[in-house]
This record gives sequence, structure tokens and C-alpha cells, in this order.
Amino acid sequence: MRPDVAPFHDPATGTWSYVVSDPATRVAAIIDPVLDFDAKSARTTHASTQKLLDHVQANALDVRWLLETHAHADHLSDAQWLLERFPGATLGIGSGIAQTQKSFAPVFGFGADVAVDGSQFGRLFDSGDRFALGEIEVDVIAAPGHTADCVAYRIGDALFCGDTLFMPDAGTARTDFPNADAATLYRTIQAFYALPDDTRVFVCHDYGPNGRAVAGETTIGAQKRENVHLRAETSEAEYVALRQARDATLPMPALILQSLQVNLRGGVLPSPSDNGVRYLRIPLDRI
Ligand SMILES: [Fe+2]
Repeated sequence: MRPDVAPFHDPATGTWSYVVSDPATRVAAIIDPVLDFDAKSARTTHASTQKLLDHVQANALDVRWLLETHAHADHLSDAQWLLERFPGATLGIGSGIAQTQKSFAPVFGFGADVAVDGSQFGRLFDSGDRFALGEIEVDVIAAPGHTADCVAYRIGDALFCGDTLFMPDAGTARTDFPNADAATLYRTIQAFYALPDDTRVFVCHDYGPNGRAVAGETTIGAQKRENVHLRAETSEAEYVALRQARDATLPMPALILQSLQVNLRGGVLPSPSDNGVRYLRIPLDRI
């Protein structure tokens, strides 16, 4: 089964969001929506998500699922704004989110009002879980390595791989966050490489390296032949050495502190203070 996939690229963070739908029933899922956040002014807007919404409305889609591939550290999720518009939809993420919440709760000083059991989400997926997108089956594949809560969604012939594989010329996701592990990511990707070569792969980010136009779609076959970090013949030891050497050179993502404290709450912004203003907290010397 071949779902319709509408890709939307956010140039500010390099994130790909997707509206995936079953052409037979028009049932749809929205994957990884981005809340626009201006780092200089801390102003939030919904222009990126409005484009997704316009697509949904123009095609009369029936949005039943809002899916996060993981708690992102580079952009804020706009899932809550979409939930207000699609109150019948279910917000899903991997069950490993509880582990990520527990890891970061002390960093952000979360109090008892911030649950660390994943209960902010409507559905916590384990590997092997299945659900229907109209007449198309969705398989959830645990995808640890980058974070504990990473999952991939295999929807018909399309794999939404989250932060695991990037486009072949951009390699793979970093493995230096809490609960991350290069050997684990290698095994996650090996499971992807066992899928049919013509499986469409939709990545979570692209920054247009070396001046090429941004791209988000490739195939398992192309990844196995061309991925600059991990080809079909790359050994685990080779990959781990390459990944760890590269991770040692990477700065923290620009919005990690702002993103995580929102995304770990399912995209719910912190409650307003007594003066009516919402505040994010910036922990010193913890990341
Ligand atoms: Fe990520």
C-alpha cells in the first residue's frame, strides 16, 4: 500500500514535517510538526504548521494521528496547536519517552506537575505495535541510538525514520545525548536495511549539505549503497569509531534547552506565571 506523502521543510531548523494520508479513505497522520520559535525574541508563531493545515483542508483529509518520531532537541513541537484543531486525533511517541523525561527532569528542575511517565501523550508505542491509517497498516519500529524514545513509523511502503538515517550524503544522527549509543543506532539501522530496497525513506532533517537543494526522500537501497556513514557492508566497529569521532566535534543544537523542556511535555508550553507570562528555564552548566 502506498500512502500519499506531503513533505514540508522548515528552513530555520532543517526539519521535515509530513502529512501522510491513505488515498482511499483520506485518513491522515501528521508527523513532527514544528512550532516556529524566534530565538532572539522568544516569539512563537504557527506559520509552518499552518502550511500543513492548509494541505489538510485543501485535500479534505481526516487527521487521526499526530506522531512524533522522538522528543526533538532542535525544534519545538507544535502538536498541541494541532490537537486543538483535531481534538479527536491521538498524539503518539515511543514509550522510551519516560526514560528521556526522567533523564532531563533534574536538568530542567521539573516539579511534581510535570509527569515523567509519558502521560502527556495519548499513545506510547512499543516496537511491533501496529495501528491502521485508513486501509494502510502502520508498523512502529523502535529506533534507539540517537535517543531512548526514537521510533520509526513504517506506513505502507514508506518509512519515516526519525533521527537515525539522514539523506545518504549527510549520514546518520548523532549519538552523544543522554541514553544515546552508536552501536545501538547501528543495530537500529541494520533492521531498516533488512526492509525491501524500494522502501521509500523519509528523513527527519536535511540542511542541504555542500550547496545541494534540500531533500527528504530516498530509499533503503540508496542508503545501503551510498550512505556516507553506514553502507550495507560497514561493520559495527567501523561505524562506532566514525560516529564517536564525529560526535566529539559537534556543538549542542541551538535550541536544545528551549526544545526539550517543551517537547518532553508533549509540546505543552509552561504554565503562565502570576504576571501572565510564560517562561522557559535555561539551566546553567548542565548540558
Ligand atoms: Fe533529534
